[in-house]
Amino acid sequence: MIISASTDFREAAKAKLPPFLFHYIDGGSYAETTLSRNCTDLADVALKQRVLRNMSELSLETELFDEKLDLPIVLAPVGLTGMYARRGEVQAAKAAENKGIPFTLSTVSVCPIEEVTPEIDRAMWFQLYVLKDRGFMRNVLERAKASGVKTLVFTVDMPVPGARYRDMHSGMSGKYASVRRIAQAITHQQWAWDVGVFGRPHDLGNISVYRGEQIKLEDYIGWLGNNFDPSISWKDLEWIRDFWEGPMIIKGILDEDDAKDAVSFGADGIVVSNHGGRQLDGVLSSVKALPKIADAVKGDIKILVDSGVRNGLDVVRMLALGADCTMIGRSYIYALAAQGQIGVEHLLDLYKKEMQVAMTLTGAKSLKDLNRDSLISF
Ligand code: FNR
Ligand code: LAC
Repeated sequence: MIISASTDFREAAKAKLPPFLFHYIDGGSYAETTLSRNCTDLADVALKQRVLRNMSELSLETELFDEKLDLPIVLAPVGLTGMYARRGEVQAAKAAENKGIPFTLSTVSVCPIEEVTPEIDRAMWFQLYVLKDRGFMRNVLERAKASGVKTLVFTVDMPVPGARYRDMHSGMSGKYASVRRIAQAITHQQWAWDVGVFGRPHDLGNISVYRGEQIKLEDYIGWLGNNFDPSISWKDLEWIRDFWEGPMIIKGILDEDDAKDAVSFGADGIVVSNHGGRQLDGVLSSVKALPKIADAVKGDIKILVDSGVRNGLDVVRMLALGADCTMIGRSYIYALAAQGQIGVEHLLDLYKKEMQVAMTLTGAKSLKDLNRDSLISF
């Protein structure tokens, strides 16, 4: 397949991956209403075309927490990335570094922190989940600090995993899942050799390092349900705020009062997010939640946003509605699964070109020029 647009990567990933992995990435929770709203609501945001304004000089650069970004995009934390491409977290981190943007490592990555950081010069971001085993949290934060991580993303919208019915149908979870997964791997030979055989070990690397034994992936979905902690509250974040010296970003905010609480708490940033429609189905799309949140806290805290961003136009839309930066999840994961590091780099080039066209034709010479005047009636 000739990859000429961001959407092509999804088709290429679908052809390459065993279905249980493709659907784990692609799917959302329950009826996937929020998953589809994230994209359709974004596409509905109409850009305002302006012409004849000498747009020969454009800048897509921005600064976030004293870090220069060549594009207003961060690679979002995504669990099990090392299952979609061989040692996938390392490949994605290298692609992000080459394109001048941050990569965020998930708590539930395949490659542990210590495997990724020596491969890149740019400081990576680390995403933390609260596990019932609180010893793990202190351990992993100490390891992140020692590895040169400065920016911490604390995800708060997964006290329990959302019900992902696609996973039960696909063989990711449910009855006879492991047999079904082997059958799928056999019929996806390129993946089977590249990742299934040569991409080992397949485990939750960060947790395995802490426990001193391999935390395998046979019942990953069950593991999430058993180990994530629904008792989490703002109080639990206080010691982390005290311990963590660098920027701390709260990911999973969808309500303006929660955004204000994040400011009062002393967070440096928030990610307006519904976890890509994977948690509470039926909630508002991120793009619809964003304007009210921006009205409430813009300037008091950095506003990142994700869920539904699939191309450079979507980035422009989110920035025009008040975000300082976007995160992308599935979009880069499809590219990684399809073509590894090169695929992610190609994808980011596409985003850049799409943004350049959109900014040229909306009359925005830099990201600061993007605001609600760049849009029609929103
Ligand atoms: C995620 N996401 C996620 N978030 C997080 O904080 N920690 C994690 O481990 C994961 N894992 C994960 C796995 C997969 C397969 C996906 C698709 C997503 C959510 C992710 O960071 C981000 O919020 C969404 O992906 C954003 O939506 P889009 O860009 O995928 O539409
Ligand atoms: C997910 C978790 C791991 O969305 O964040 O699957």
